[in-house]
Amino acid sequence: MKIGNVALEKNKAFLAPMAGVTDLAFRKTCKDFLAGLTYSEMVSAKALTLNSKKTKSLLEKHESETTFAVQIFGNDPDIMAEGAVIAADLSGADIIDINMGCPTPKIVSNGDGSALMKDPKRAAEIVSAVCNKITIPVTVKMRLGWDKDTINVIEFSKRMQDAGAAMVCVHGRTREQMYSGKADWSLIARVKEALSIPVIANGDVFTEVDALNILDRTGADFVMVGRGCLGNPWLFEKIHCALNGLHLNSEPSVSDRLDTAAVQIELAQKQKGERIALLEARKHFMWYLHGIPGAKQFYEQISKLETLNQMYSLMLLMKEKLRSRG
Ligand SMILES: Cc1cc2nc3c(=O)[nH]c(=O)nc-3n(C[C@H](O)[C@H](O)[C@H](O)COP(=O)(O)O)c2cc1C
Repeated sequence: MKIGNVALEKNKAFLAPMAGVTDLAFRKTCKDFLAGLTYSEMVSAKALTLNSKKTKSLLEKHESETTFAVQIFGNDPDIMAEGAVIAADLSGADIIDINMGCPTPKIVSNGDGSALMKDPKRAAEIVSAVCNKITIPVTVKMRLGWDKDTINVIEFSKRMQDAGAAMVCVHGRTREQMYSGKADWSLIARVKEALSIPVIANGDVFTEVDALNILDRTGADFVMVGRGCLGNPWLFEKIHCALNGLHLNSEPSVSDRLDTAAVQIELAQKQKGERIALLEARKHFMWYLHGIPGAKQFYEQISKLETLNQMYSLMLLMKEKLRSRG
């Protein structure tokens, strides 16, 4: 399937944008396990226009990312358009995605992220301003609405389509819900019925069975995976197999997990330097250990690691101690 000139890859499971998580190294790891479209962390359009070096570093794409979306946030149509031009030029992205779903107080208090769902006129102005300035497809990621009394995703997504959006992604929760409760997939189904552009279904996909179910129940074209792939990039491979009628029986061993984590962390180190890579690696390391019996005893040690070499030594020790368990 294509949007604009962009052929979306064979795996219908996309990696969700996640601030502080989906850096180049993690995205590359997910690509290794067959993730489809990958998204950058959300990037401030305003910071791009102010030439922020740190923000620009978020735009770097890995060569394995054959289809890559950069997600921008903000609420001023002109700044968003200017930021989109910079993001597209610097990253070589195939798609610019607009964040209309982020629920965090710091973002919504500025009128960004999911606050835009309360102002559909402005949201549409942003989409058309961005579409007028760049030639690659523009997509929108949204929630169901602000709260349970103001659910507007169907009208809102139609309006984004009319403004020029080439695809939308719907996370089946309101802003008020943040990440609590269960995602409502039935409303995503109604969005799919109402729109002619492709729809990505998102919310609560933790297994390949969840992925099959969300696609089946919503009729959506694609599924997006967020929390389910933290420390678990293998999920994309499992979904890919399940979509092709196969069942991958094997679970990654402790060694597989630690080796995958190490390769990811080394790549992060090359891109960001040891200090930042180490701080961010601690959480990825713990996610990779999730569910392994006996792994919790190492968490405190992990949180105190001072160098990446210490981390790699600890990984060797853990391989010995945990070998029999996973
Ligand atoms: C740590 C974290 C960071 C996130 N950052 C972003 C972001 O930058 N942009 C965005 O649109 N959504 C962001 N999200 C939301 C996810 O993209 C996704 O919509 C949400 O987690 C629901 O999907 P899931 O149930 O598969 O996790 C973030 C979620 C998490 C857990």
